[in-house]
Amino acid sequence: MTVTILVGCQWGDEGKGKIVDVLASRMDVVARYQGGNNAGHTVVIHGDKYVLHTLPSGILHEGVTSVIGNGMVVDVMGLIREIEEIESQGFDALNKLLVSEQAHLILPQHGVLDKAREQALGSERIGTTGKGIGAAYAEKMARRGLRACDFRNRDHFASKYREYARHCNEVLTKFYGMEPLETESILEELQTCGETIRKVLGDSVSFLNKAVREKKQILAEGAQGVLLDVDFGTYPFVTSSNPSPGGACTGLGISPRYIDSITGIVKAYTTRVGQGPMPTELHDETGETLRREGGEFGATTGRPRRCGWFDAPAVRRALQIAGCTEITLTKLDVLSVFDEIKVCTSYETSQGPMDLLPFDLEVLKSARPVYETVPGWGTDLSEVRETGALPEKADAYIKRLRELLDTPINMVSLGPDRKQTLCI
Ligand code: GDP
Ligand code: IMO
Ligand code: MG
Repeated sequence: MTVTILVGCQWGDEGKGKIVDVLASRMDVVARYQGGNNAGHTVVIHGDKYVLHTLPSGILHEGVTSVIGNGMVVDVMGLIREIEEIESQGFDALNKLLVSEQAHLILPQHGVLDKAREQALGSERIGTTGKGIGAAYAEKMARRGLRACDFRNRDHFASKYREYARHCNEVLTKFYGMEPLETESILEELQTCGETIRKVLGDSVSFLNKAVREKKQILAEGAQGVLLDVDFGTYPFVTSSNPSPGGACTGLGISPRYIDSITGIVKAYTTRVGQGPMPTELHDETGETLRREGGEFGATTGRPRRCGWFDAPAVRRALQIAGCTEITLTKLDVLSVFDEIKVCTSYETSQGPMDLLPFDLEVLKSARPVYETVPGWGTDLSEVRETGALPEKADAYIKRLRELLDTPINMVSLGPDRKQTLCI
């Protein structure tokens, strides 16, 4: 096995960071392929919590090279703060990092545009993280973006930046009626960041393809989830990149020919942050319990996550696109407090019954979950370290999900710590 893609199969926050960290001990390279610092990937080691936004979640392992792939958008100021924070906690980050020269930059202007657009949308807003992700990807597609390689030459960078900053101020003043941004102080700050970025800049595509040829173990780390994918998610309530496995090939420059396995990360219930349809969302005490027990607050924005029961049609749709070879089921321990657990097996919609999440937002909005009720197990799972020690009813829940999803579940996560992980 050389290349494994790890992908979230719901609306993000499935526990990808934890699982990447667990798998990273067997990896030579961990490479993020899309998204930016909208991601919040939490890793807990011996009770200490680390939240990674731009850095790959393998950064806490010695001997693992972390790659920021060409498909990412990088807020360099945020990245440098993150590196400094990780290094102040005793980890080496800069020396293990490679930033793709083709990765596009998120400039402070993009954050301002993101927020201005959200404000203008009012009740129709997406509920973005406000990190400028959509604006940075839009400029990439409009072929106006600045890339990490532009840092190689200070004068070149300054001229590209000034040209873009002028354009951006036109948009802010003429379209949004805002004050123009003071651009030179931003340039100065960016140039300082450029000094550091230059040290870790490189041809990540050649690096990764050499690693493939040498049969190194590579983990492609997805951010967000398939249901937030700009092509396959609940558009327009999505992010602006392709978290789906196809995004790993374009976001790293690795041919689909070299992908050996695709691990889907699936939470034992459903959460979502931001706006957009979520058929199993619970607005009652049960939803509140899931949020409290699961600590469901955004790792990037601190926003409370919307919570609900497991949604099989939604995950089925994600699996249809992702083609996962196996699933890691996370946060099963959170369900221990319930006497009874519900699982949504299909929807009733304006177009009739459906067992796959529909793409048409109007149909999706009409979806009413059809539930089946299964018994809870009523005991704490956080200390379980062997499959045999799982309560029978927890085992039955896993088996039922496996059946509903028609995909093997080969790992179960029973707590945030590295050691709370079972191979089954
Ligand atoms: P990611 O974005 O997919 O990496 O997920 P987040 O880190 O945003 O959110 C997952 C949260 O659940 C984090 O606070 C993790 O520490 C925590 N977590 C991960 N796996 C488990 C688990 O199996 N059980 C519990 N109780 N918490 C978990
Ligand atoms: P991780 O990697 C959950 C959501 C936002 C919003 C939409 C668009 O931690 O799973 P954006 O800022 O990307 O333009 O926002 O996508 N979103 C996430 N939700 N987890 C994430 O990342 C997310 N990244 C973006 O809440 O609804
Ligand atoms: Mg997260």
